[in-house]
Amino acid sequence: MSTGLPSPTIGVERHLLLCATPTKALCGDPAMGAASWALLKRLLRERGLEDPGRPQGIVLRSKADCLRVCAGGPILLIWPEGLWYGGVTPERIERIVDEHLIAGRPIDDWVIRHTPWQHVSGGGATAT
Ligand code: FES
Repeated sequence: MSTGLPSPTIGVERHLLLCATPTKALCGDPAMGAASWALLKRLLRERGLEDPGRPQGIVLRSKADCLRVCAGGPILLIWPEGLWYGGVTPERIERIVDEHLIAGRPIDDWVIRHTPWQHVSGGGATAT
């Protein structure tokens, strides 16, 4: 039975979370979120970012119900950078895919937060 999980032998370069169609549409137009999500799925596939043979690893995507920003959305969060894009539209999705994900140049004008990933030591957690 397939679980939908990527194989443990496949590297993951990034994970994208988009509050595309939240139960309570608090931060954006659900129609815009749905269109952005549909385009994101298509572009990741078409640009080869889901190719298991990609040397830098695949790009995962998840449709989140709410990312707890709830203003100026839809919101797209990209890990491991911890960059939060606001006001996501299909047009922005295309530029984010091409400029951020492929060329490695985040689009600063659309970033509303930056929360870099941090390993926390102490309390039982160990930094590696
Ligand atoms: S509905 Fe988008 S962050 Fe809450």
